[in-house]
Amino acid sequence: MKQLREKIASEGRVLSGEVLKVDSFLNHQIDPKLMQAIGEEFSRRFKNDGVTKILTIESSGIAPAAMAGLTMGIPVVFARKRASLTLTEGLISSEVKSFTKQTVNTISVSGDYVTADDTLLIIDDFLANGQAALGLLDISGQAGAKVAGIGIVIEKGFQNGGKLLREQGVRVESLAIIESLADGKVAFREESEVR
Ligand code: G4P
Repeated sequence: MKQLREKIASEGRVLSGEVLKVDSFLNHQIDPKLMQAIGEEFSRRFKNDGVTKILTIESSGIAPAAMAGLTMGIPVVFARKRASLTLTEGLISSEVKSFTKQTVNTISVSGDYVTADDTLLIIDDFLANGQAALGLLDISGQAGAKVAGIGIVIEKGFQNGGKLLREQGVRVESLAIIESLADGKVAFREESEVR
């Protein structure tokens, strides 16, 4: 997605060989116009797949997921990473390891909102090692829901999440794939080279 790649090129900052800071439009401050375009692009890619609901994870997945839900006219459910005062019954949970932070989080959704009648589109902001996506797939499976695919805003192609998921036969659609962050520069992978 050209508009997203241009935004990353102009505002993204490489923090190390492995981490891209995009706080100005995705992870802290949100660019609503760009999020709207991202939602429309996810909608275009998944419009013929019978998606009934979008599943994402707090916090940075919510903005792109909400815009996709708005465009597709379907609800958006976000998995919680922390216990909620009101969300206590009928929870479906999964453990998510973070390689980056060396932590394990329990993520949960209510079984009232993700059910066997659903065909889900899973959306997240970043795909790195794929642990969050695997947790959301696990929750979908526990609920008996079908998964049409996974929509990612920025995939780090040099980490193994994309390969892991695609090898499992999961359809992964990433709007920008970063080939490398070496030497402080963002290098993109061409969409025709998705692997
Ligand atoms: P994984 O789910 O793909 O395995 O990711 P990993 O454990 O490596 O990353 C944990 C957190 O760091 C996730 O956000 C993920 O989106 C984010 N992340 C990973 N690589 C990058 C990067 O290069 N740049 C940025 N900006 N974020 C990255 P989170 O902790 O769940 O944060 P949030 O959704 O609450 O913002």
